[in-house]
Amino acid sequence: MLYLKPEFVTSILLSYNDTMLKGKNILIGITGGIAAYKICTLIRLYKKSGANVRVVVTPNALNFVTKLTLQSLSQNEVFSDCFEINDYKPEHIALTESDIFIIAPASANTIGKLANGICDNLLLSTACAFKKPILIVPAMNTNMWENPFVQDNLEKLKNCGFHILEPDSGFLACGTNGTGRMREPDEIYDKSVEILTKNNFLSGKKILITAGGTKEKIDPVRYITNASSGKMGIALARNAQQMGAEVTLVSTFNADGDFENIVTPTAQEMETTVKSKLNEVDCVIMAAAVSDFRVKEYSSQKIKKTSSDTMTLELVKNPDILKEISDLKTNTKIIGFCAESENLIENAKEKIKAKGCDFLIANDISRKDIGFNSDENEVYILDKALNIKKLDKDTKNNIAKRILEEIFE
Ligand SMILES: Cc1cc2nc3c(=O)[nH]c(=O)nc-3n(C[C@H](O)[C@H](O)[C@H](O)COP(=O)(O)O)c2cc1C
Repeated sequence: MLYLKPEFVTSILLSYNDTMLKGKNILIGITGGIAAYKICTLIRLYKKSGANVRVVVTPNALNFVTKLTLQSLSQNEVFSDCFEINDYKPEHIALTESDIFIIAPASANTIGKLANGICDNLLLSTACAFKKPILIVPAMNTNMWENPFVQDNLEKLKNCGFHILEPDSGFLACGTNGTGRMREPDEIYDKSVEILTKNNFLSGKKILITAGGTKEKIDPVRYITNASSGKMGIALARNAQQMGAEVTLVSTFNADGDFENIVTPTAQEMETTVKSKLNEVDCVIMAAAVSDFRVKEYSSQKIKKTSSDTMTLELVKNPDILKEISDLKTNTKIIGFCAESENLIENAKEKIKAKGCDFLIANDISRKDIGFNSDENEVYILDKALNIKKLDKDTKNNIAKRILEEIFE
């Protein structure tokens, strides 16, 4: 008699009742692993939910499943060759027009190549050009799974925003017991629904994010600035856009991304832009490091060196954009950042009270491993009631995701 665990039955029922996949474009990538046969069931689950399924395989995957089977189940052509171009667009670009890319089973070989930007087949080239979520579902022998290179490659992918559905332990096709068994098709399906739901959770929201250190001009060639790299603001903009928001990035430099980018090098230019957009957006995240002062008199000619050993620049206060937009008490949610080199929490509490914003993200710039110019960060999120939540050290990409989840949930 077939026995199904109750949670397994619930999961299947939930999945089949799910309508959110109707009309979604699901791209499945199959690599050369024995678990490839299970992907036939996965394709059936997506087809039943009304999704459009396309399949791309590595040449090695075709040793395990046939194109004919995959084609019949997906009711679409199956892609395997980079150079078989049917349309004006190469396949690896056409296939990126999908809502999610699920690579299952993901072999150790493909995981290694993905983590190193190698594109020597259609599946890898597609993944390299893919901007929406990618779900990696590894499956391999236990010794391969435990290999430090494989683990390092997975860690690298995780840090770059790939979703990983880690393998189960149990009896493996190679006849051994251990970790490495690919997750069942219904678990892969449920994970993809979870990613797509989360991915869309900012849909309909308009978010303005500021980034970078302002450049306060002294003369045509010199300016006063600070050590902010703008990496945190860009990570927030990319993640908000990927979660479905309409994003405007107001930055002190040109930034690439699928969002509107307005370049405002100085605090005053940033203030004008942010205020003009304040009522059009649901949220403003002030991640830019805005200079507190600017020079009183800008010199339109380059200032010449003189015989004097000293030089005095008179500075005047810049607008406090965060406080000014918070004081306007609009319906727009306002999030500020604070960079402190000492007494982080105490200073952050004082700052949120003084500025009146909805949330304050505090980070410690005295540490070399996080904050300014680093790829990693560790932050504390304070709300108006002075509740504090710590987000442990992680990549700025992952911290950005967590911040957006915290402030919008
Ligand atoms: C019968 C058989 C089963 C295999 N199963 C796996 C597997 O489950 N996971 C894995 O990482 N490699 C497995 N391999 C090795 C891969 O097929 C091999 O590393 C190949 O280069 C993967 O190519 P691809 O990543 O381009 O598909 C298997 C090989 C054979 C012959």
